[in-house]
Amino acid sequence: MADTPPPSRAPRGQLVIRTIAMPADTNAAGDIFGGWLVSQMDIGGAILAHQVARCRVTTVAVDAMAFHHPVLVGDTIACFADLQRTGRTSLGIHIEVWVQRHFSRTEQCVTEGVFTYVALDSAGRPQPVHRADNPPPLDPGP
Ligand SMILES: CC(C)(COP(=O)(O)OP(=O)(O)OC[C@H]1O[C@@H](n2cnc3c(N)ncnc32)[C@H](O)[C@@H]1OP(=O)(O)O)[C@@H](O)C(=O)NCCC(=O)NCCS
Repeated sequence: MADTPPPSRAPRGQLVIRTIAMPADTNAAGDIFGGWLVSQMDIGGAILAHQVARCRVTTVAVDAMAFHHPVLVGDTIACFADLQRTGRTSLGIHIEVWVQRHFSRTEQCVTEGVFTYVALDSAGRPQPVHRADNPPPLDPGP
């Protein structure tokens, strides 16, 4: 069997979700429903946002969504999340979905987007990402 060509680039960010696309997640054409994929991305981004903000977070915006290729039943999907911006109360997280096709080792980036999360206090109001109980990470220096 011929070797599978490597992907043209590596996924960006850390792995936050890995699961299998199931028949229940298909649209009328039999492909995986985009809304299911977006919900996986939202959950994956929230995992990283929660890790950074260490408090409840909510999604306030989704930008630059691009669906490059379809996802098929049986594909293994992996969401990679990369913190690209830290605001006062918000976090911009770039999320990519890569698939490994059913019975194949081919890996491909199928979808990407930028999700914005807001750190919330216990009353559901925006609060700073970095606070007394969640100081910014130390600068490792030169
Ligand atoms: C998130 C929420 C609490 C923010 O409230 P708000 O009154 O807009 O708060 P602010 O204006 O102080 O904005 C908070 C942060 O969000 C950012 N923000 C607000 N709207 C934004 C948008 N459309 N795109 C990008 N960032 C946005 C602001 O720039 C600010 O970031 P910063 O502090 O880092 O500068 C409120 O909009 C909300 O509850 N939205 C619904 C969230 C939700 O239910 N999500 C799940 C959908 S099913």
